[in-house]
Amino acid sequence: MNLSKFGEKFTRGAGITKLMDDLGSAMAGGDMLMLGGGNPAHIPDVQDRFRRRMEAILAEPRGFETMIGNYDGSRGNEAFMDALAEMLRETFGWDVTAKNIALTNGSQNAFFCLFNLFAGEMPDGSKKKILFPLTPEYIGYADAGLTDDFFAARRPSIEMLDGRLFKYHVNFDELEVGDDIGAICVSRPTNPTGNVLTDAEMLHLDAIAQDKGIPFIIDNAYGTPFPDIIYTEARPLWNENTVVCMSLSKFGLPNLRTGIVIASEEIAAAIGDINGVMNLAPGGAGSRLAIDMVKSGEIIEISQNIIQPFYHRKALRALEQFDAALGDVPCKIHKPEGALFLWLWFQELPCTSKELYERLKARNTLVVPGDYFFPGLENEYWQHKFECVRVTYAQDDDAVAEGVKVIADEVRRLYG
Ligand SMILES: Cc1ncc(COP(=O)(O)O)c(C=O)c1O
Repeated sequence: MNLSKFGEKFTRGAGITKLMDDLGSAMAGGDMLMLGGGNPAHIPDVQDRFRRRMEAILAEPRGFETMIGNYDGSRGNEAFMDALAEMLRETFGWDVTAKNIALTNGSQNAFFCLFNLFAGEMPDGSKKKILFPLTPEYIGYADAGLTDDFFAARRPSIEMLDGRLFKYHVNFDELEVGDDIGAICVSRPTNPTGNVLTDAEMLHLDAIAQDKGIPFIIDNAYGTPFPDIIYTEARPLWNENTVVCMSLSKFGLPNLRTGIVIASEEIAAAIGDINGVMNLAPGGAGSRLAIDMVKSGEIIEISQNIIQPFYHRKALRALEQFDAALGDVPCKIHKPEGALFLWLWFQELPCTSKELYERLKARNTLVVPGDYFFPGLENEYWQHKFECVRVTYAQDDDAVAEGVKVIADEVRRLYG
């Protein structure tokens, strides 16, 4: 097969593709302990609400037929975007209308569009990059540029906390933003670490982006107001210069592929233009299922009262189990402030995190090796990259407990 440069780039085995393949096989059954991928939990009380919404749609005259039988516009379902804009105005006071919103087929798709809108080859022939001011960062960004050498990234500063805990911070002393940067991007809460950048860090990054005249992209896939998987105080941020990306996935609808971009009208329109070419229109099942929950505020109530406590309890339980099982193993854990993950840092691990991943996989336990999570730092040697793994606590409690035991046992053997 004679592939173009594009073809070669996108078929060379991106980390995210391997991760999704592992996840797909594990979710298909078998006895693998799935502490790897980012599939959200099936929370019975939440799924029950979705079931009831679906039944109501089926009972509406022509409800089912319009849900499956009509394309939405290229920016997505207009009524959903209207309802969402109203909710954001009322909840946060954001000055937005439906024109500030565009839907995508999952927020993964939004990042592909946004990154390539602002970085790569510019009309004047210059090249720009997307900057991650704090890595580790989300694995799914890693291969989303149409050209090579697309990302720049900075190491964090590390604050040691009580017990096993630590927290990453943006190292502003080292954060130079040159003219080769087209946009700044952070996930908050962060996948893979569960970090939540502080309000002060967010405001500082926002000020830098405004000063440079470049967008500040905030990946809010786990953030507020839905699914609100945040266990700490964090003020949401939006202004004309920010691009806030949300998703219905971690609210419990990952298979309906609904991403939401909230940005200036110009950027929202640009996402619609790309949608038109790539997809005609984003899929509308997610917005159709969720629209009444947005109108009634139920989406916030479910997030705050069911989803957030569900994951918080699981985070604390997994943390406690690791703490007990690891004993004197030199393992630090990032303070879990949100999202679905614990980020384990095995100091001076006697093998690479990838070897640890293989050893655990051989024992039917899936984690994700940490070195995938440093997009933009590929060419920079940093031992820390090879000492970390990401563990998901979203799945069944028994599986997590069993997985914790296997991981602790394996690293004990490794440290000998
Ligand atoms: C931080 C982050 N951003 C974006 C996504 C993409 O999610 P989706 O495309 O399902 O909206 C994920 C998925 O796990 C994620 O963890």
